[in-house]
Amino acid sequence: MLYRHLKSLILIIPTLTIGLWEYIRHAFLLPYISMDLGNWLAPLLVFLVTMTLLRKLFFMIEKLQEELQKERAAKAALEEREKIAQELHDGIAQSLFLLSVRIDRVEQSQTGVLTDALREAYQSLRKTVHEVNDYVRQAIAGLRYPVNPSAEPWMDSIRQLTEEFMQDTGIAVHLNWSLSEERIKLKEKVELYSTIREAMINAYKHADAANLWIQGSDRGEAGWSCEIRDDGKGFDAGTPSEARGGFGLLMMRERADELGWSLVIRREQGCTMVTIEKEDKR
Ligand SMILES: Nc1ncnc2c1ncn2[C@@H]1O[C@H](COP(=O)(O)OP(=O)(O)OP(=O)(O)O)[C@@H](O)[C@H]1O
Ligand SMILES: [Mg+2]
Repeated sequence: MLYRHLKSLILIIPTLTIGLWEYIRHAFLLPYISMDLGNWLAPLLVFLVTMTLLRKLFFMIEKLQEELQKERAAKAALEEREKIAQELHDGIAQSLFLLSVRIDRVEQSQTGVLTDALREAYQSLRKTVHEVNDYVRQAIAGLRYPVNPSAEPWMDSIRQLTEEFMQDTGIAVHLNWSLSEERIKLKEKVELYSTIREAMINAYKHADAANLWIQGSDRGEAGWSCEIRDDGKGFDAGTPSEARGGFGLLMMRERADELGWSLVIRREQGCTMVTIEKEDKR
């Protein structure tokens, strides 16, 4: 808008100047200024106006164009980042899920013949999958937030995760989320996503679950909570705290410690529940 006004001004000002000058000259200045002098003064006046006012206007137009250019470049960069984040998510994060499940299947199929060296190899494979997964999550978050305010909301990525999970595993996921995104900090979003994902994968890998319930609740002044519940067969090791073997639960606990969440895994009424609670500190 401003750009258009500036352009119109630049076009109109010389004509207006000469018109005004001729009017004033003929109406008021004829007794004082000779015809010859008047003819000389006209281009001089236009030249002066061009050098002062018009130069300023041209400068403003250049500035505007520069800003526009910068804005366009920034927008293109943001779009590019979003594209990379999406590719990372759709490609790598998704394949990691399948990889984790496959490692488990292969390991289970060899239970009788597993040597210590092989067991260690599986352990380190699993650890690497978790590490790459964490790295990918951080990279996606780094690309998306907070530079890109129009990036897809965090809740959408949870929804997408549950849909993909349902398609891949056939487990019915019931999402009941009433926790607003503003209540969770950026770092918490990244870690909460990883925790939910791990709990979901565990329910598929170890529990033969048919249903998964994911609930996010706002507890008002007391903070917020998130619960992932599966109706699977529960822990072989007896209590969840005795469960050993992988890195999923270990990393869940580490994350919870780091962020000040309380993490409880328990069996209740035929279900395994992973509960995360965060108190609001005021
Ligand atoms: N929802 C669940 N239901 C039943 N058992 C579970 C559940 N979650 C975890 N477990 C048990 O706890 C153990 C440890 O889980 P953890 O996520 O740490 O490792 P993993 O899933 O075996 O391997 P990784 O996560 O490293 O790929 C599992 O081997 C499994 O026996
Ligand atoms: Mg696991």
